[in-house]
Amino acid sequence: MKTLAIYNVKGGVGKTAASVNLAYFAAASGLKTLVWDLDSQGASSWYLHGQPGEEKTKKVLAGETPVGRLVKPTPFENLSLIPADFSYRYLDVMLKKVEPPREALRRLLKPFSETYSLAVLDCPPSLSHLADNVFTAADLILVPVVPTWLSLRAYEQLRDHFKAEGFPVKKLRPFYSMADRRRGLHRELLEAPPEIMSARMQAVVPYSSSVERMGERRAPVAAFAPSDDAAALAYAELWLETAKALGV
Ligand SMILES: Nc1ncnc2c1ncn2[C@@H]1O[C@H](COP(=O)(O)OP(=O)(O)O)[C@@H](O)[C@H]1O
Ligand SMILES: [Mg+2]
Repeated sequence: MKTLAIYNVKGGVGKTAASVNLAYFAAASGLKTLVWDLDSQGASSWYLHGQPGEEKTKKVLAGETPVGRLVKPTPFENLSLIPADFSYRYLDVMLKKVEPPREALRRLLKPFSETYSLAVLDCPPSLSHLADNVFTAADLILVPVVPTWLSLRAYEQLRDHFKAEGFPVKKLRPFYSMADRRRGLHRELLEAPPEIMSARMQAVVPYSSSVERMGERRAPVAAFAPSDDAAALAYAELWLETAKALGV
């Protein structure tokens, strides 16, 4: 099983949208896929029809319940979900009790390798202990970057964190998210990407009303939009690049 994380210290940059859409394409390609909604706000749980808030994660971390009990089916073939859990507010504290403390999430994921080919971690926007667990567990970390200087700076700070903490920087792959070609700055940064974006995915996720509609449809874009929808095509392309990078 490969583990893909979608991470950015910033909120509202398209992490959850990418998690759900990429997981959908992975599942549609025949890979048994598990989305773990690690954000207590539960946005990917909402899109995938999960019920958040059962507080079971605490028991799993205490070793009282097997981690497999957290998994729920979704309406989509080959796609399962671990919904967000309100007990995530304790997650940082709980993970710190495990030795070695950065390995807890990797260990929790281990039993799933018998059933799943891909785990997708939809991450909360914070540089926490949980984030360090994600950086350890993930084979690849996609970082949505809105084409603005502040977003680029946040990505640079993440790379600095990786270097300082000894995480492999090559796990990090940025991609442009919510790109709006009507804006001058977006166009400039898309046409002449700064050096820091050299390892980026080539797919660019456009600013799109169909992504906004996911909340109302409770489905990935490709499940309801026309087949030539620009965002659906961008996520399809991003998935192909991601699959290649993961070797799945
Ligand atoms: N490509 C996009 N185009 C338009 N709106 C988007 C796009 N990606 C995300 N959004 C919207 O922006 C908000 C934040 O997106 P989300 O994926 O939840 O970000 P994050 O998980 O990084 O907080 C949501 O309301 C979502 O519908
Ligand atoms: Mg999110």
